[in-house]
Amino acid sequence: MQISPSILSADFANLEAELRRIEDADWAHVDVMDNHFVPNLTLGLPVVEALLAVTPVPLDCHLMIEDPDRWAPAYAEAGAGSVTFHVEAARDPRALARALRAAGARSGMALKPGTAWAPYEDLLPDLDMVLVMTVEPGFGGQSFMADQLAKVTAVRQSVRRHGGEVWVQVDGGVSAETIERCAEAGADVFVAGSAVYGADDAGAAVGRLRELATR
Ligand code: DX5
Ligand code: ZN
Repeated sequence: MQISPSILSADFANLEAELRRIEDADWAHVDVMDNHFVPNLTLGLPVVEALLAVTPVPLDCHLMIEDPDRWAPAYAEAGAGSVTFHVEAARDPRALARALRAAGARSGMALKPGTAWAPYEDLLPDLDMVLVMTVEPGFGGQSFMADQLAKVTAVRQSVRRHGGEVWVQVDGGVSAETIERCAEAGADVFVAGSAVYGADDAGAAVGRLRELATR
């Protein structure tokens, strides 16, 4: 069970210090948004490169961008431990997943709430992680969409059938109130933005979430 706090809810003027608040987490989740794939704009490769130079934990980059086939491999080449693209935006998801691995990152593929899993099941051998969005991508602090839990379970079942170690990540509205349901449904990597960065003690929030996910 791994916790990946999203720095989308951190203080963007103090990102180095904000990363230190979560040094006990497994990953730092970095939401890259281009104002085209989603109606919000955050940060891109130059900032990710700067974060890589100072972060105490590996970066889990979630790319909410158009044309990831063109832009995503550079995040892997820069040293991100995990790079996740949206299947809705990818022209050739299999080739892209392979390119991410070849560049040294774990390959992740994300599904928006309206995107079904079944058509993409055969991509599993080229994936290290499937991200099931539990909100519409674009903003932190939204309400958890419980209707996505069936998809989490479907992905977990596919992973079991195929064998191999593919992580199942949930992102959006994950908190102490919702994380146990995510774990029961089959998730093993949990992104949490407001639930971690909104807490006075972010490290304690990470520990609490991990405990809830594990029991
Ligand atoms: C939303 C982002 C999430 C966001 C989650 O598009 O992908 O990573 O930061 O924030 P919370 O945990 O507050 O829902
Ligand atoms: Zn995210």
